[in-house]
Amino acid sequence: MSFDHFSAIAPIYARVTYSKKDAMREIASLPVQGRLLDVGGGTGRVAAAIREYVDEIIIADVSFGMLAHSPRTIFQPVCGASESLPFADNFFERVIMVDALHHVINHTDSMREMYRVLKPGGVLVVEEPDIRTFGVKLIAIAEKLLLMRSHFLKPDAIMKLIDAGEKETRSADGTTWVIVKK
Ligand SMILES: C[S@@+](CC[C@H](N)C(=O)[O-])C[C@H]1O[C@@H](n2cnc3c(N)ncnc32)[C@H](O)[C@@H]1O
Repeated sequence: MSFDHFSAIAPIYARVTYSKKDAMREIASLPVQGRLLDVGGGTGRVAAAIREYVDEIIIADVSFGMLAHSPRTIFQPVCGASESLPFADNFFERVIMVDALHHVINHTDSMREMYRVLKPGGVLVVEEPDIRTFGVKLIAIAEKLLLMRSHFLKPDAIMKLIDAGEKETRSADGTTWVIVKK
């Protein structure tokens, strides 16, 4: 079993707030009635910021350490990998993944799974650091030096991971969003 870098930094991560709440609200077409799945949701940083916009939020993450720092009275944490999500087809009104796609083992399987659990009419939003920018290139080098399993993809490459739905990308200030409507 490989070292879980995120368990080690979870106490710090739990103190960081999410600054792109307004962008996520608009891009994910929030508020919405129903359930939202935050894949690779970690300590619930993003979920906490958008909690008011949806009835229920479930956080799925491979790291027990990260999930242990999420407020369990507010969110349902589920320990599981994005490549094989433990949910039925067409279960969530919204699925989001923030700052996590570059950490997963299999990008294609993760996108396929997130799309599978999304309801028809729902929206999947993948937010990633934009690897085309200088600052993010430096982060990618730092993560390699820390032996993290990061593999950043350009927005076009993320779009190509999935051959379904209505796809769109947006980019601003070193962040990119891939939006898939089912
Ligand atoms: C940089 S953190 C981001 C956490 C959260 N989305 C946020 O923005 O605060 C990346 C997260 O992805 C999780 N992760 C990595 N690979 C994963 C996988 N295959 N499935 C689910 N979660 C994964 C890590 O455990 C970690 O919590």
